[in-house]
Amino acid sequence: MSSYYVTTPIYYVTDAPHIGHLYTTVAADILARYHRMRGDDVWFLTGTDEHGQKIQKKATETKETPQQLVDRVVQRYQAAWEKYGITHDDFIRTTEERHKTVVTEYIDKLMKTGDIYLNEYEGWYCVPDETYLTDTQLVDGKCPECGRVVEKLKEESYFFKMSAYAERLRKHIEANPSFIFPESRKNEVLGFLKQEIRDISVSRTTITWGIAMPKDGKAKKEHKVYVWFDALTNYISALSNHPGKFDSHWDQAIHIVGKDIIKFHAVYWPTFLMALGLPLPKQIVAHGWLTDSNRKISKSLGNAIDPMVLADEVGIDGMRYFLFREFSFGQDGEYTKEGMYRRINSDLANDFGNSVSRVTSMILKYLGENIEISPEDLEKPLAVTAALEHYPKNIDAYHFEKALEIVSNIFGFVSRDIEESQPWALAKKEDAESKAKLRKYLLTWRESLRVASLLLYPFVPTSAERALATLGDTVSLKDGKNVWGIVEWNKGPAKVTLAKPVPLFPRLEYKEPAAT
Ligand code: ME8
Ligand code: MG
Repeated sequence: MSSYYVTTPIYYVTDAPHIGHLYTTVAADILARYHRMRGDDVWFLTGTDEHGQKIQKKATETKETPQQLVDRVVQRYQAAWEKYGITHDDFIRTTEERHKTVVTEYIDKLMKTGDIYLNEYEGWYCVPDETYLTDTQLVDGKCPECGRVVEKLKEESYFFKMSAYAERLRKHIEANPSFIFPESRKNEVLGFLKQEIRDISVSRTTITWGIAMPKDGKAKKEHKVYVWFDALTNYISALSNHPGKFDSHWDQAIHIVGKDIIKFHAVYWPTFLMALGLPLPKQIVAHGWLTDSNRKISKSLGNAIDPMVLADEVGIDGMRYFLFREFSFGQDGEYTKEGMYRRINSDLANDFGNSVSRVTSMILKYLGENIEISPEDLEKPLAVTAALEHYPKNIDAYHFEKALEIVSNIFGFVSRDIEESQPWALAKKEDAESKAKLRKYLLTWRESLRVASLLLYPFVPTSAERALATLGDTVSLKDGKNVWGIVEWNKGPAKVTLAKPVPLFPRLEYKEPAAT
């Protein structure tokens, strides 16, 4: 059994989650569910980033203590993940003791080895991105990443000797071509490593909300750990209270992140781990941004879209499916409500929902509810052969949209085959040959839909289980554990009882927004 460790970023709890956070978290959930089906020993971590200046500043605005703010907002994340059926094994908050202990221990160790040393920082700081910037990095005096106003900083600070590890990191990336996904982001990181790498500041004296730097007797002031070093450590600190997990899972870690934070994950984090003498994660996967009028959807840009509202409007599985069928994972994708309605109606209401209910209704009408299936009743269609071959490859390569397109071909096959074979005409004939033919058509479609439903399970878990139940397959995918053996032609139960179909996805009515 192989270990599989998948993580999401830990999100800043300044405000409720939006569809960008949902996107990353569902991606990790799809991977976790898929790997559980395959029988892997999965560990899935998500959580929240609760320290730093951004949180401190927000708490001032909301007239709460930082602790009150994070305790309140973290519930919005937890509620959203519960609503969307996210199957994480653990949820880490950086204000927890288990986390603070590990951060302190790591920083302390690097202070002793000299990899962290005292100096003075002078430069700029972008609070929304929690990033240090040099004069030359600024664009029109603003943050090059997000275009927002930066602050001038001049303070005593501890630095991490990142420069000492840059060359080793470059070699690691070149020797392990899949370390950073996709290729474009890998090239971006390699480009960054070609420049002169400076040591980076890892402590702040001008904030109070953070983990205390260990004292080495040299600093004149009180220092708090820079929030990114605090945050990145979550991927290991969260394993610390699960005995054996670090040894079994750490070096299998796959960090799913947005492209906005690739440098932190692909440069800061690996060099920090090298200094600590720890293994690197297996892979960093950076997806593109969901955009609105070509601008990144974000809390601080004020164009956030609430996943809780969307869940009630178009359904949880509808959202989960739309996000991964509509957009290409590594690239940006423009979110539109109209596109979302179109996609859910055409693929889920029409193709998936209708084929399940049409085929089930015909079987109930022509063959009855209790069926005993024998191999002669089935003829494996090309669309199923192709799906079984290409779906796993595409999931492994993060081409979720292609994996789903391949499943759609099964629905395409079923509806074409229904039109071409005219089962209602065959049903009127009394001869044995026509009866056998009709039975073979119906049960082949049913078996095709059973396979398609299983393949859709990681994306639309609730609807997939309902579809399977309608088709008379009572397999429980709840924990999804090791069911891959039945994701094959004619590997379902031989005796089945079909249920009266209920619509899986009601058609959504899209209304043009009123002109303003
Ligand atoms: O950066 N499209 O937290 P954060 C797609 N605390 N994904 C998006 C998105 C969009 N428009 N907007 C946000 C932080 N995301 C740090 C992380 S990890 C050790 C610390 C997703 O709340 C995407 O995954 O700003 C992005 O990287 C993340 O949310 C940033 O969340
Ligand atoms: Mg952000």
